[in-house]
Amino acid sequence: MSQIQLRPANWEDIPAIQVVRNAVRENRLSVPGSIKDADVASYLKERGRGWVCEVGDRIVGFSIADAADASIWALFLLPEWEGQGLGRQLLDAACDWLFAQGVKEIRLSTDARTRAHGFYLHLGWQEAGTKCNGEVRLTFRRNHTLQGANRSTCQ
Ligand SMILES: CC(C)(COP(=O)(O)OP(=O)(O)OC[C@H]1O[C@@H](n2cnc3c(N)ncnc32)[C@H](O)[C@@H]1OP(=O)(O)O)[C@@H](O)C(=O)NCCC(=O)NCCS
Repeated sequence: MSQIQLRPANWEDIPAIQVVRNAVRENRLSVPGSIKDADVASYLKERGRGWVCEVGDRIVGFSIADAADASIWALFLLPEWEGQGLGRQLLDAACDWLFAQGVKEIRLSTDARTRAHGFYLHLGWQEAGTKCNGEVRLTFRRNHTLQGANRSTCQ
């Protein structure tokens, strides 16, 4: 099997990032294709940073942290790559970077009762209300980590 690599994302990765974003089964875009390449580029270089997981030369997942909003802007895997620890590694990379920027509390929102909802709770995120569109708000502080001692790195 090809080696799995976690690395910082760059502009050349944007087409593959878009493929992953539009392939998910939950937390789908309400309007497919509505996130433009220029939006992704802005989050990668201006507002924040991103990371990708590659298997061979194929990008199978990505995360993007938004320092301007102290949030996780994106965390997505191809469905067939779920459940293998890659989401956790991509989330760790994004959170580590935000904390290194001086962020004290990271936030995000996700559709309720999805795999992602349970994933964040499992990793120590706290529920912080519901948005008017029904998404659940979640927050994370490093000292809230329940599973933090059990961190892993990409092989
Ligand atoms: C949400 C998502 C990123 C999770 O990634 P993943 O690679 O499948 O998750 P991992 O395998 O890294 O799971 C990490 C841990 O969370 C646990 N976990 C995952 N989903 C869980 C759930 N719904 N409930 C409880 N625990 C869960 C895993 O068992 C694992 O636990 P362990 O490390 O203690 O053994 C992925 O499923 C995904 O891309 N979903 C579709 C897109 C999406 O909804 N993105 C989030 C937008 S906010």
